[in-house]
Amino acid sequence: MAQNLRVLITGGAGFIGSCFVRACSGMERFSRIVNVDKLTYAGNLENVQSVAGDPRYVFVRADITDDKEIDQVFAAERPDLVVHFAAESHVDRSIHAPAAAIDTNVRGTFTLLEAARRHSVGRFIHISTDEVYGDLEIPHEADEEYLLRPSSPYSASKAGSDLLALSYHRTWGLNVTVTRASNNYGEYQFPEKLIPLMISNALEEKPLPIYGDGLQIRDWLHVEDHCRAILSVIERGRAGQIYNIGGNRSLTNREVVEKILAATGRSTDLITRVTDRPGHDRRYALTSAKIERETGWKSQIDFEEGLARTVAWYRDNAAWVTRVKSGEYRNWYERNYANRDAAMPENQ
Ligand code: NAD
Ligand code: TYD
Repeated sequence: MAQNLRVLITGGAGFIGSCFVRACSGMERFSRIVNVDKLTYAGNLENVQSVAGDPRYVFVRADITDDKEIDQVFAAERPDLVVHFAAESHVDRSIHAPAAAIDTNVRGTFTLLEAARRHSVGRFIHISTDEVYGDLEIPHEADEEYLLRPSSPYSASKAGSDLLALSYHRTWGLNVTVTRASNNYGEYQFPEKLIPLMISNALEEKPLPIYGDGLQIRDWLHVEDHCRAILSVIERGRAGQIYNIGGNRSLTNREVVEKILAATGRSTDLITRVTDRPGHDRRYALTSAKIERETGWKSQIDFEEGLARTVAWYRDNAAWVTRVKSGEYRNWYERNYANRDAAMPENQ
């Protein structure tokens, strides 16, 4: 990877983006690290508090659907590389209120691609998901050529944004690469997705709501493995290509929940079966053979070890869970820092 790279990261206050910001801050080759985030309910500057003192780091509060704001950021920061995480990322929210997912995931990606084209950005990594392939019957696994059959407004908006990103490579020669990862878990994940929700409910001895029969299958990838994969794509991935990133660990939701109950020492009596999600995908499965072959990346964190670390983190950070659920941190930011670019204040 080239040295002195100026990287612009969208969604760097969210779960995966913040892990990536922290990883970049640990690497000397980045001379500038710009975190562009709107701070929706899912974005929280506490997630990147550890890098606030890094002189190469700057936070810019901006909405990726706002072309004027985004153009100003690109003009001021002149990034060499964009890594685009910002999204409305939750399937259930996209079912109940699809407009935000369509705006941010499709229009926001379009706005960034246009800015990247206008400002001759050298590299654009578009972060996507295995959900674009829809659900697959056993024993099929999606490779990067697999048919796109998204089931929810979330996955459809991600599939649309993937195709848009690839079209900018084909039409204008923009150096775009798309990555499609499986379900992530780890520290700082907003407690609405399966693993953090179930861990925080178990710790608080609240019911664990399993949708339908709980036999849906997901492939689990630790967020740090995901961020390492993205770095390997930046280093060795090819323009115009798609790379699947999987954790190589398929489990039913019920198995995941039982492991969480065992790790938290809570009873299976907390499991509650609730109404299924409409259009619920039964099974995701993908092969990561291409990224492994071309970049040498492999997932390293074993699920049981990663889950134990995650449970320990949520146990130690119960106050973070309370704050993000109540929106307390964001409200504080809005009162004190609205419309100002600011690094994480020290006395928060
Ligand atoms: P997240 O919901 O935790 O974070 C999203 C971030 O984007 C937040 O900080 C939010 O404030 C920001 N954001 C949302 N709308 C914005 C807008 N209009 N302008 C600027 N910022 C905005 O999401 P995540 O789980 O970290 O996912 C990051 C990316 O990875 C997404 O593109 C998602 O599709 C993809 N992905 C996620 C998973 C997963 O399991 N979480 C798996 C594969 C791919
Ligand atoms: P989720 O974490 O929302 O990720 P995705 O839908 O993107 O895969 O859900 C993972 C699986 O867990 C999915 O099959 C839905 C299921 N699920 C539940 O059973 N109960 C819950 O409360 C949640 C949030 C998810």
